[in-house]
Amino acid sequence: MDKLDGSARLVIVSDLDQTMIDHDDRENLSLLRFEALWEAEFSQDSLLVFSTGRTPISYKGLRKEKPLITPDITIMSVGTVIAYGEEMIRDVGWEEYLDNNWDRNIVVEETAKFSQLKPQPERNQGPHKVSFFVDKQGAQEVIDSLPQKLEKRGLDVKIVYSSGEALDVLPQGAGKGQALVYLLNTLNSNGKPPNNTLVCGDSGNDAELFSVPSVHGIMVSNAQEELLQWYEENAKSNPKIIHATERCAAGIMQAIGHFKLGPNVSARDLEFPYPKADAIKPAEVVVKFYVLYEKWRRGELPNPSSVLQYLKSITHSNGIIIHPSGSERSLHASIDALSSCYGDKQGNKFRVWVDRLVTSPIGTSNWLVRFDNWEKEGGARNCCRTTLLLNMKPETPEGLELTHIHKTWVEGHSAGSENAFIL
Ligand code: GLC
Ligand code: MG
Repeated sequence: MDKLDGSARLVIVSDLDQTMIDHDDRENLSLLRFEALWEAEFSQDSLLVFSTGRTPISYKGLRKEKPLITPDITIMSVGTVIAYGEEMIRDVGWEEYLDNNWDRNIVVEETAKFSQLKPQPERNQGPHKVSFFVDKQGAQEVIDSLPQKLEKRGLDVKIVYSSGEALDVLPQGAGKGQALVYLLNTLNSNGKPPNNTLVCGDSGNDAELFSVPSVHGIMVSNAQEELLQWYEENAKSNPKIIHATERCAAGIMQAIGHFKLGPNVSARDLEFPYPKADAIKPAEVVVKFYVLYEKWRRGELPNPSSVLQYLKSITHSNGIIIHPSGSERSLHASIDALSSCYGDKQGNKFRVWVDRLVTSPIGTSNWLVRFDNWEKEGGARNCCRTTLLLNMKPETPEGLELTHIHKTWVEGHSAGSENAFIL
């Protein structure tokens, strides 16, 4: 949360499964489109918060499977765990607070008396989260009688039912909504209340997010029945909540446009040739650069020669790129090397994306840009920590020129071949 000097322009708080991530989209296209938009337009002055029902273990598994960028804050286990930054530093104070009127053993003991409750696997359980599978009718019976039973034993719990199958028992003070209120209070008391907050969800455990005061909300088009029903009963008259017509991350982009929270066209959706930039945008130039590189190697550009020309026009003729293997070559030579590999990754599910992008001005006309550059091919993915220098140069199409790129393998993610990370 410390990355910003002032208030966040936008805080996006999004659920993952079937909201940010469309499990029916094998290509992860809407996710990649959203992420390119986020890195290019928002990451410098806004905060991305993932809020998931998954436990830290299960969330880590998902990160390996899907091309997810790194959020600023991760809320896990249905609002019972809050972690900050890439290092995922746990908010111990939040977990201590959740100990109030809570005893996991008693919850396990009392829930065992309901034969319809089938415990979820161990990796889905948490110190403040006891989770089961149960159908809708069976869940209703538990919702109607378990809280009183636990109250008699001194506990105050909250029961959350999601996706017509998952039932979580949590401390009363927990949940995705309560965790967000806690975060917003922290930002407020640090003198950095966000300008806007957008919450995004698809199922029952997200409902609370939509009742946090003053937030905008988007239910994705593919939202579950229990969330839509909650909306009908509780929030229908609230113009700050919409049911998108687009699925998952595409619905989030739709909401950014609908509520006028910022630009909502992803660099992945821009037609080439790009329109001449009307402002200097270092982050956007870098994201567009790697989108072009991906499309090049996928063979998806209608006019390849104009792309090479464009790449040369925004790179310094004496500029250097240091490949993660340590070899060094001129930027223009690397661009020339591209010409022989147009479409060479076709059919390989090749994807390129950037994560953790930070731009820092040096003086008034230079920028140092740092990011993680990912390349995925088939099931394998590799990553380079990348540093790149940009100079202001009004005559180029972007008003900027790339002068230097330096890449180093991220431990555990190095590719064997020189054919990877050409730019
Ligand atoms: C996620 C979790 C599961 C939980 C569900 C609903 O799917 O993995 O444990 O019950 O969200 O909150
Ligand atoms: Mg979900």
